[in-house]
Amino acid sequence: MKIIRLDEVNSTNDYAKKHCPENDELTVVTAKKQTHGKGRRGRAFLSGEGGVYASFVCPADKLLTLRAAVAVLETLKRFGAAPLIKWPNDILINNKKICGILTETVQNVSVVGIGINVNNDISAVNDIAATLGSENSPDAVFAELCSAFERYIGFPERELIDKYKKSLILGKNAVWNGLSGTMEGITDEGYLILKTVGGDVVAAGGEVDVISFDNHARV
Ligand code: BTN
Repeated sequence: MKIIRLDEVNSTNDYAKKHCPENDELTVVTAKKQTHGKGRRGRAFLSGEGGVYASFVCPADKLLTLRAAVAVLETLKRFGAAPLIKWPNDILINNKKICGILTETVQNVSVVGIGINVNNDISAVNDIAATLGSENSPDAVFAELCSAFERYIGFPERELIDKYKKSLILGKNAVWNGLSGTMEGITDEGYLILKTVGGDVVAAGGEVDVISFDNHARV
């Protein structure tokens, strides 16, 4: 894997889109911090020193985001954490977000941006965010993430979906596109099945607000 290491950048996703054409070798851009880390739906992603910020450039694949989520799960588990997935690709620990994933696709090339809170300062978002803890180094987490990503990029689809499903938060009430229901499962394409009063709805994009975590936080 080709690794491009930067001290500081606006966004590793933007850097990768600009400078890294897709080729046969998997490429990853990582930075110690980002000045304009991007989240989904135009949100900002807090990106101070101490976190892992990485963008993998790879061929587009409909299950890429699921692959990335499973790779992050496995990485975090190696550091003793017990993460779960909030559909489609937020990774939570104790109902708080520890990792966000932003996949951007241009033609047949995708940039999968992964941000993991390791020991960066999250005091501004303490109520909804979590870190892996100060005893862990972002470099060690990044190294694990690269090997996990490489492993899951070519993983068989069926097994990948099964792995993803095992760690997916299900059975909770959630709202998707204004519709509320219970998260029941996922389709073979990785879409969420929401059981509503009007019947099953397949959520084929966007994200959900989970409204029945024990602490009633909306993540
Ligand atoms: C989200 O949770 O909304 C997605 C967050 C994605 C953050 C990562 S950090 C590395 C890459 N570069 C960015 O600007 N964003 C992604």
